[in-house]
Amino acid sequence: MNIQKVGVVGCGLMGSGIAEVCARNGYDVVVLDLTDGILKQGLGRIEKSLSKAVSKGKLSEEARGKTLSRISVTTKPTDLADRDLVIEAVLEDLEEKKKVFAELDQILGPNSIITTNSSSLCVIEMASATERGDKVLGTHFFYPAPIMPLIELVRTILTSDETMSTAQEFAASIGKETIVAKDRPGYVCARLIIPFLLDAVRACEEGLASKEDIDTALEMGMNHPMGPLTVVDFFGLDTLLLIADGLFEEFKDPRFAAPTLLRRMVAAGHFGRKTGEGFYQY
Ligand SMILES: NC(=O)c1ccc[n+]([C@@H]2O[C@H](COP(=O)([O-])OP(=O)(O)OC[C@H]3O[C@@H](n4cnc5c(N)ncnc54)[C@H](O)[C@@H]3O)[C@@H](O)[C@H]2O)c1
Repeated sequence: MNIQKVGVVGCGLMGSGIAEVCARNGYDVVVLDLTDGILKQGLGRIEKSLSKAVSKGKLSEEARGKTLSRISVTTKPTDLADRDLVIEAVLEDLEEKKKVFAELDQILGPNSIITTNSSSLCVIEMASATERGDKVLGTHFFYPAPIMPLIELVRTILTSDETMSTAQEFAASIGKETIVAKDRPGYVCARLIIPFLLDAVRACEEGLASKEDIDTALEMGMNHPMGPLTVVDFFGLDTLLLIADGLFEEFKDPRFAAPTLLRRMVAAGHFGRKTGEGFYQY
């Protein structure tokens, strides 16, 4: 299938980045979110990111303008009706995602593909909310989506070969590498990285070292580009907690048990960079 028109559901941290990378590569993009205020914030993030690319010499002023002209935003799901591909990027909550998938299934044409940007949830559960299981897969982008080169494709037992090839071609057309993971909780990336991030929070909770020293240890001792607590702030403590709880429920493995400190910080609204406060202040 030839993808030309892309829809993105959710204009948060990931949805805005996914919309940006698609538009930068020539796709016409419509982004759906719940309120005009959220969409305005998301567009602001896209503009800031494009300006940064221009100032670094990675994008021309002209390309910046063209990219913005390819993105439109809406609060009406029916505005996605003519999309060939819709990428869902709402919060990491299975019931919410299933609702979105069921609604998209009613609105979209029969050949359109629906994908999820979930970091950990079973894609088949979302596919089962539709009548087009063969046209559903996971396309897990990484933060920040315009920069990170990988998309983790998640194939369910229903995803067709044709849908997989279309997804692979689409990923290549927006300059991304792909890996293919089975539809198991956490796929490859979250399965391996979440216990590590939770361990960093646990280390901080037990006072093993200061938060700065925990980050410096991994940056300077292990050559990580960012310390784990800084990564958690970028990622969003709320999202980390949702993913950890989902993985724990599935595997019942203490490696995925969320530390109390994480739960308390989320209860306090300290979600990291997006709220201005997490392990660090922004
Ligand atoms: N944060 C990361 O680093 C990261 C990385 C990879 C994947 N993910 C995954 O991407 C998804 C989104 O994460 P995020 O960090 O962008 O979250 P976010 O909270 O920043 O954004 C979610 C957006 O979805 C919107 N939304 C919620 N319900 C909606 C609905 N029914 N219709 C339209 N919009 C709706 C919210 O208003 C919000 O703007 C999650 O599944 C997450 O696991 C996140």
